[in-house]
This record gives sequence, C-alpha cells and structure tokens, in this order.
Amino acid sequence: MGTVNNRSPLPSGRQVILITGGAGFIGSHVVRRLVNGYPDYIIVNVDKLTYAGNLMNLADVEAAENYRFEHVDICDSAAIERLFYTYQPTGIIHLAAESHVDRSILEPLTFVQTNVMGTAVLLNAARAWQQAGNTFQRFYHISTDEVYGSLGDTGFFTESTPYDPRSPYSASKASSDHLVRAYGHTFGLPVVISNCSNNYGPYQFPEKLIPLMILNARDGKALPVYGAGANVRDWLWVVDHASAIDLIYHQGRTHETYNIGGRNEWKNIDLVRLLCKLMDDKLGRQPGETAKLITYVTDRPGHDLRYAIDCDKLTQELGWQPSIQFEEGLSRTIDWYLDQTEWVNGVRSGAYLAYYEQQYAGR
Ligand code: NAD
Ligand code: TYD
Repeated sequence: MGTVNNRSPLPSGRQVILITGGAGFIGSHVVRRLVNGYPDYIIVNVDKLTYAGNLMNLADVEAAENYRFEHVDICDSAAIERLFYTYQPTGIIHLAAESHVDRSILEPLTFVQTNVMGTAVLLNAARAWQQAGNTFQRFYHISTDEVYGSLGDTGFFTESTPYDPRSPYSASKASSDHLVRAYGHTFGLPVVISNCSNNYGPYQFPEKLIPLMILNARDGKALPVYGAGANVRDWLWVVDHASAIDLIYHQGRTHETYNIGGRNEWKNIDLVRLLCKLMDDKLGRQPGETAKLITYVTDRPGHDLRYAIDCDKLTQELGWQPSIQFEEGLSRTIDWYLDQTEWVNGVRSGAYLAYYEQQYAGR
C-alpha cells in the first residue's frame, strides 16, 4: 500500500480534504460530488480497498486535476501521519468502515479493529496535527442511525435519543461516535457527526438488501427475506446523503450531531414486493412472476425491528431536503444494476483488484 499518484506538489493555500472510505458505496458518491463541485479543493481518497472498496466506482473522476488516491489502511498510524504531512489537510470526512451487520455477526473483531481503532488512529493524528499549530477546520464523522437501537411501531430517533446499539456493527459505530465526541470535548478538535438511515442507489456492494434482491431477481434465484419480513427501515437515495454531507461539512455547527433520513419507511416485505413488481415490468415478466421467488429464511440474530429518523434539525438549520421519491430512486437503481453487468461481475469476482493494478501500477 502507499502513494499511487505522480501528480505535481500541492499549491499552498488550497483546501485539502481527506475522505476515508472514498472507494466504497457512499464514499464514492461523496468523492464525486466534491471533486466536481469544488475544483479549487484537493480531494484525497484514503482507502484500503477491502472487498467493499472499488476504484471502478470512481472511474469518471480519477483523471481530475484535484483528485488523489492513497491506498492506506486507517489503522496504520504511521501511514496516516505521513498523509497529514504530505497533504496538510484542512479537514477530514471519515467514512471508512466495515458496514454490513451480517458480517459483524460472523466476524465482530474486524469491525472493532476498523471502526473503533481506525477512527481512534485518525482522531489522534488530527489532534497531533492541530496541536502542532496547523490549520485544521473539520473532523466530520459519518455514522449510522443504528447506534440508537431499535424502535417499536411508533416514534423516531432524534439527535438526543440515548445510544442503545445492539449489533457488533452498531456497537462499533457507537464506540467511534463516542471517541469523536471525546476528542472534540477534551482536545478541542472541531468535530461534527451525522447519523444516517439506510442508503440505496448505484455502487452498493450486492450483499445489502436492495442490490442483492435486484440481482437475485434478475437471475431467477431465491429472494431471502429474514424472519417474517416485518422489520422496517427508512431508505434514503445515496446521492441525497452525499448532498447532506456536503452541506454539513461546510455549514454544520462544530460539536453538533445531525440526523439524516429519507422520511421513507418501508417494511422489508413490502419493499421486496414493490421491487418484484418493478422487475416484472422491466424484464417483461408476467405480473407476480418475480414475487414467486420470495423465500422466508431464518431471521438475523438480534434483528432490530424498526429504524426511523427525525431529520428536522438538518432541514430547519441547513435547509436540506431529499431530492427524489423512493419509487423513482428504486427504479433508477434497478436500471443501473441491470445495465452494469461488468461492475457487478467485477465486484463479485474480485476483478476490481485487477482494475486497481492496471490503473495504478507503477505510479
Ligand atoms: P462500504 O462498505 O460500501 O464502504 C466502506 C469503504 O471503507 C470501502 O471502500 C472500504 O475499502 C473502506 N475501508 C474499510 N476498512 C478500511 C480501512 N481499515 N482503512 C481504509 N479504508 C477502509 O460502506 P458504505 O455503505 O459506503 O458506508 C460508508 C460509511 O457510512 C460507513 O462509516 C457506514 O457506517 C456509514 N453509513 C452507511 C449507511 C448505509 O446504508 N450504507 C447508512 C448510514 C451510515
Ligand atoms: P441491510 O441492507 O443488511 O441493512 P441493515 O441491516 O444495516 O439495515 O438489511 C436491510 C434489512 O433487510 C434488514 O432488516 C435485514 C433485511 N435483509 C433481508 O431480509 N434479507 C437479506 O438478504 C438482507 C441482506 C437483509
């Protein structure tokens, strides 16, 4: 791992943002937005390229003058320190994480390592950088609504809902949120946190509900619904999450937390049925044909019943609004996955690593 760019040295006085996890699902949308929207900034994508990180997600911006990629593990404190001295960042947007609940049940320690230790390493490097007298404006930590636990049939998570994480994933994210606040409080690091609901859209690794169901439906495979399918999630179009992140990075108040959500609750089984209907239409199948693939399977251990976000603070303070309706976003997402067979085959087979070697070898 290491530097893989051979661009000219940085001109002084430019805003430089390190984006960790920029090759992942949400991170790639954030990188794209900032590279295109802020040509005066330098955007440095810091990513280990785990199974979930893929530079094909950023093929359209990798030639941009203001984009850099660093193949670095956030747990590697020497490498992270080197990045601070090389790039002199004015801010960080931290998305790198292990992100899948089912995997956290199978291998919790990987989640503790990356999500807790990795965040601590970044915080410590930023603290040292700031204490050395350098300008550092923002440590923005991207988190999840799952830290708040599970709701019953009514109510919403607000920014003051007590933490009650219940999976190894959400517990590791809650730990990292606490560390971020502690560094803000103790060391005066200019931190801000957002906690977002479930994202969907292009470039999501096909282990999460929506892309998994789309590809299984396409291939005529079983659609595995956990338990009775009664669990509820609040779905947000990933591009709208990226717009909220842009807004909070630039205008959010330091030491504050902002909830982000789609005001868009769906029971899993209802979502899967809608998806099946859209797949019937798009693939020219008889109405009801895709839904025959629905298969109820053993429930996820400790499966949280319902997440629902109150994001009034973000709307009222910063004027953020989601841009599209769910049916439109879901339809666009299905079209994207049906169209992107090369991407799908690449991420499933590990061929994305060959892409990395080919694009960056020798740089
Ligand atoms: P993802 O799994 O698609 O991507 C994670 C990225 O982090 C990958 O590019 C991976 O290579 C990188 N990474 C993992 N370990 C690393 C390490 N040790 N060092 C450097 N890079 C590493 O995740 P995502 O769904 O895009 O989520 C991004 C962030 O947003 C996470 O912090 C997640 O907790 C949070 N979040 C996700 C959702 C969601 O619905 N996906 C909702 C709310 C919050
Ligand atoms: P997921 O996309 O893994 O996100 P999260 O667990 O972080 O909310 O799952 C979304 C919901 O879909 C969750 O209630 C679990 C359920 N689910 C299934 O029913 N079947 C599946 O194959 C998957 C991956 C998830």
